[in-house]
Amino acid sequence: MVDQFCFYPESKTLEVETQDPLLASLPQGGNEIDSNSIFGQTAPFILDLGAGEGSFALAYALQNSGGYVLAIEKKISRVRKIVRKAKNLNLKNLKVLHFYWELFLKDYCKSSAVDEIHILFPDPWPKRRHHNRRTLNFQSIESISRVLKPKGLCRLVTDNQDYFLAVTKLFNLSADFELITPKKNYPESLFEQRFKKMGIPYFQALWEKKAAKGCP
Ligand SMILES: C[S@@+](CC[C@H](N)C(=O)[O-])C[C@H]1O[C@@H](n2cnc3c(N)ncnc32)[C@H](O)[C@@H]1O
Repeated sequence: MVDQFCFYPESKTLEVETQDPLLASLPQGGNEIDSNSIFGQTAPFILDLGAGEGSFALAYALQNSGGYVLAIEKKISRVRKIVRKAKNLNLKNLKVLHFYWELFLKDYCKSSAVDEIHILFPDPWPKRRHHNRRTLNFQSIESISRVLKPKGLCRLVTDNQDYFLAVTKLFNLSADFELITPKKNYPESLFEQRFKKMGIPYFQALWEKKAAKGCP
């Protein structure tokens, strides 16, 4: 059953399936979503953007039983895989949203609602003429800043050095973030496992959203 269609600027459509309790759905109104509206309770809200087959999101949800993980993925076959694995693990603190993450952040997510954002191996679009297809850009970093709580974290891992440097530059240009050292080891995503196995180097950065002036 498909009960809602979301339109993408390039006139592609995405089906938002809502019959499975593990699938999150989007309300009509804008910029209202937080952990409470999706999971029915307020708790640390963690986003895995472009979750792929969900290796990181599933492992991280297992590790963080006190938090809620929302995996966002545009490919329905991958969304179904994550749901299947989450059911096998009997996970209650993970949901999957079949959607474009940059639109979720821009038009649906509440301001200062998110504790952690993980963007692991975003599609690199290495050719110069395709750089405008990259999901991390000036606009999406503005959205990341809007939805993160003060002291909220945004983590990027990519094997594409050029993309990494371009994104690092954008975060540096924004006055809202500080580059920090990760305090813990995060579970590996499927792509991270693959690159590690092949001995291909990859790059990681973690930014913290600065607290508003006057706040501790
Ligand atoms: C290279 S894969 C990495 C998957 C996973 N993060 C990992 O590290 O194993 C990139 C994933 O992002 C998804 N993706 C790309 N653009 C997206 C978007 N705008 N919104 C949601 N998912 C997206 C792709 O379908 C793909 O599954």
